Amino acid sequence: MWTGPHLLTTHDADPEQLRSLLDQARDETFAHDALSGRAVATVFFEDSTRTRVSFSLAAQRLGARVVDWTSKGSSVSKGESLIDTFWTIESMGFDAVVIRHPENGAAELVAKHARCAVINAGDGSHQHPTQALADALALGEALDRDRGWDFTGIRVAIVGDCVSSRVARSNASALQALGASVVLVGPQAMAPKELGEALGCDVAHDLDAVLGEVDAAMMLRIQLERGAGRLLPEGYPYHEHYGLTRLRAARMKDSAVVMHPGPMNRGVEIEGVVADSDRSIIRKQVEAGVRVRMAVLENAIRRLGA
Ligand code: CP
Repeated sequence: MWTGPHLLTTHDADPEQLRSLLDQARDETFAHDALSGRAVATVFFEDSTRTRVSFSLAAQRLGARVVDWTSKGSSVSKGESLIDTFWTIESMGFDAVVIRHPENGAAELVAKHARCAVINAGDGSHQHPTQALADALALGEALDRDRGWDFTGIRVAIVGDCVSSRVARSNASALQALGASVVLVGPQAMAPKELGEALGCDVAHDLDAVLGEVDAAMMLRIQLERGAGRLLPEGYPYHEHYGLTRLRAARMKDSAVVMHPGPMNRGVEIEGVVADSDRSIIRKQVEAGVRVRMAVLENAIRRLGA
């Protein structure tokens, strides 16, 4: 999970490192001045609400100075490259840069050139490690597995546009590292068997056949900004086949929870009443995101050293 001070991926995550970080986030065992005198930049080449705000809040809660940068209105419009943008910001003296970029591998690329800690806040359809950590924290707490973080016997369906989703990839790795089993569910083009093979997950195309057996259904939006509209025939009744409706949710186990990394498209992948129901832990995922990002920032800067 960690490459020196950098957090880039949950692929091949060490379960003990995951559990240690989740313990820290659950108990908030960080000094409130842990990042006093440090500076953190959020560098976002793609839009965000949850990730950017929660990283900023997390850094501020630990006493860091925070600067939020977005590519809109920046010198990217004058042709400045990713690396030159990163070097420019790093040269101002930041200890950590939290980066989101539409290209797969962008965070890893800048980390190779970095003196500061780099945290991947989402790169293309590749990875979103802190979302997976937030989801594991919220799920473990909801299912009472937050002592030891042993997810053995828990089955999670990740439903929808898995192929476009960095959340699906990061969650599949993190959840399985903790012992859960994962099934990707969606139309053939959005949940191809090759993706399941690459991630070591099951794949299913019939949501109704899967829902009754899972402990959590993690609904994903269709990522139109990554061209996912082309994956389905024109007029395809997506909500009818893959939307988590009130009727479908009623057929889930009593103890099962509904998740969504956000942003949601109500009425498409999830009916609004399900998102707002007692089964839903969607707001808890958001809340967990702040605690997890505090733990990630504290670890990253500690690993960076003095
Ligand atoms: N889940 C997530 O990454 O949301 P944002 O795009 O709002 O940060």
